[in-house]
Amino acid sequence: MNNFVYDIPTKVYFGENQLGKLAQELLKFGRRVLMTYGGGSIKKIGLYDRVVGELKAAGIELYELSGIEPNPRIESVREGARMCKEHNIDVLLAVGGGSTLDATKFMAAGACVDHDPWEFFGADAKPIECALPIVTILTLAATGSEMDTGGVISNLATGDKLGRLAPALLPRVSFLDPTLTYSVSRFQTACGAADMMSHIIEVYFNTQKDLFMLDCFMEGMLKTIVKYAPIALREPENYEARANLMWTSSWAINGFINGGKRKAWSCHPMEHELSAIYDITHGLGLAILTPRWMEYCLDETTVDKYVQYGVNVFGIDASQDKMTIARESIRLTAEFLFDTLGLQRTFGQVGIKREDYAVMAQKACRYGDIKGFKTLTPADVERIFEMCEQ
Ligand code: NZQ
Ligand code: ZN
Repeated sequence: MNNFVYDIPTKVYFGENQLGKLAQELLKFGRRVLMTYGGGSIKKIGLYDRVVGELKAAGIELYELSGIEPNPRIESVREGARMCKEHNIDVLLAVGGGSTLDATKFMAAGACVDHDPWEFFGADAKPIECALPIVTILTLAATGSEMDTGGVISNLATGDKLGRLAPALLPRVSFLDPTLTYSVSRFQTACGAADMMSHIIEVYFNTQKDLFMLDCFMEGMLKTIVKYAPIALREPENYEARANLMWTSSWAINGFINGGKRKAWSCHPMEHELSAIYDITHGLGLAILTPRWMEYCLDETTVDKYVQYGVNVFGIDASQDKMTIARESIRLTAEFLFDTLGLQRTFGQVGIKREDYAVMAQKACRYGDIKGFKTLTPADVERIFEMCEQ
């Protein structure tokens, strides 16, 4: 196993009726709070009133920024950073899904610098040395933003959707109440499951053979998604299903499973180019790409990983020959994503056009070839895009 540093100090309040601790946690950082949220789902589920009531009762000076978009835009980040400076904010409270959380992270960082927050992104990105403290209330299990150091922001003016990691962006406290996800639509529940599945697959499909403990952990999380996502679709208010999915989303990307792995992620850089141009939901793009990428990477040098995955996650009969098991593991992954979760399966169904493949492939490789499970050049990425047509 490689050397690694594991340092995830986010304090998590997990479960129902934990919001009574919200005000006291915020007050540890100060009295002036900027609360951020999206397009209104938190009002529909009564969460907005609960949170505002709680904070006002505690004497907190509350400012608000609403309307953060799915695939959040740099304009929202700029506005949040500006408000933090104008009102001398002590702590940011992000209430929502990954988009709200991600945008809030860069508002918190933008509040500490004089330059445009977009300069945190790209090849010549400015350092993120500090950020205001961030507290989150998660309402959608998917991205893991509640417990990770990353975020992804879109810039329509440049046609880019770029991610950035920095320890300063890690939420200090996150409230994870599975009942807040009961109202998440079938589609977003399915996309969330596909996203967390991809976060694990990006790490699990690895040629290193010495990560047995972490492999077992990842297989357990993959089995959790395969078991509970269909239940959450059938019974949106099934606490056990929502709770298992929510905690899996956090652990899929909080750094624990990485274990010093040095290979890059593959489907995420490709997907971010799809949602940059077509504004599709991240998990949907991943669902379409993942089985095709798996198929593209399968050969005699990689087959063992597919066998391990197919046997341990999907229970495929281990006595068959390796290639048969590997192909069956890809078929079962596609069946789960497209038939069980009901996500669309081709680029054509979501309106992605061939004329954009070349530019999306070049941008997916903007930092060089993708050195993942198998190294992908722009030409490889274009080939995977073509496979997404069938
Ligand atoms: O805006 P509102 O009204 O809140 O509605 C949202 C939005 O329309 C709705 N929603 C959220 N919670 C709800 C709810 N609807 C009903 N009931 C609830 N309880 O769901 C829609 C999607 O929300 P969004 O926050 O966009 O979804 P998600 O959590 O999947 O976040 C996606 C973004 O995160 C990025 C993605 O690229 C994308 O931009 N990612 C962030 C990562 C990270 N921080 O590490 C990693 C991921 O790989 C990903 O790239
Ligand atoms: Zn993702």
